[in-house]
Amino acid sequence: MKNLPLLFCGIFFALAFSFTGLILTSHIQIGSLTQTTETLEATDDLDENGMPVMVMAEGEPLYPAMPVGLAQQGKEIYISMGCIYCHSQQVRRNEFGADIERGWGPRQTVARDYILQERVLLGTMRTGPDLAHLGGRYAGDAGRDWNHLHLYNPQIVSKGSTMPPFAFLYDVRQIAGKPSEEALTFPPDSEYAPETGYEVVPTRRAKALVEYLLSLKINYSLPEAPILE
Ligand code: HEC
Repeated sequence: MKNLPLLFCGIFFALAFSFTGLILTSHIQIGSLTQTTETLEATDDLDENGMPVMVMAEGEPLYPAMPVGLAQQGKEIYISMGCIYCHSQQVRRNEFGADIERGWGPRQTVARDYILQERVLLGTMRTGPDLAHLGGRYAGDAGRDWNHLHLYNPQIVSKGSTMPPFAFLYDVRQIAGKPSEEALTFPPDSEYAPETGYEVVPTRRAKALVEYLLSLKINYSLPEAPILE
């Protein structure tokens, strides 16, 4: 092994190159991103190009916002159910695909959208639609009801869907006294409705998952990615 030093040099440079290319440059480009306001204000200071230094507008809310409560727990269910194998959470730029045309988001997503997430669920497969802005498309109680029916069995609201049912996240139980307020309301004559005298109620996991889905919204502009009018 007379070329041992050369071999070590080769290994060292291969590792150093990939570390610089993959980790260091990304860190320099996006490692210092912070929450910011929708618009920026110009200050009197000038940067090295002679342009005014921009700072966050005072008193405006910061974005992206911190997810809270049940929605945060729902993210764990989303991860454990493997939803990521069929769904992405990233909206492509206008020239790079039809995402915005399809209504998957009002603008492209950028690195800053993900800075508060410990596990970023970008996804690689799009067997189903992108979910980055799902909460913007299905809002309020109607959106909640739709998502529960869809998770219980996608066929109820989306005939011919290839998404698997997640019925095990729901309890089918006999109605004791009066029906539960949380029970799913099936469309009339639905073949998936429970037998008379029975009701389908979401478990805590189903509720958390749906709150998480409804919390996915790109409803704020960022200085580098304003919402397209
Ligand atoms: C095997 C692939 C597959 C898996 C796994 C999967 N989905 Fe889907 N999903 C689809 C397909 C295909 C559609 C489009 C048809 C439909 O609406 O059902 C869809 C649609 C959706 C929609 C409606 C989107 C819209 O824009 O109308 C939501 C919400 C959704 N899925 C959530 C989930 C969640 C949450 C999970 C995990 C618990 C999951 N999916 C797992 C394939 C999948």
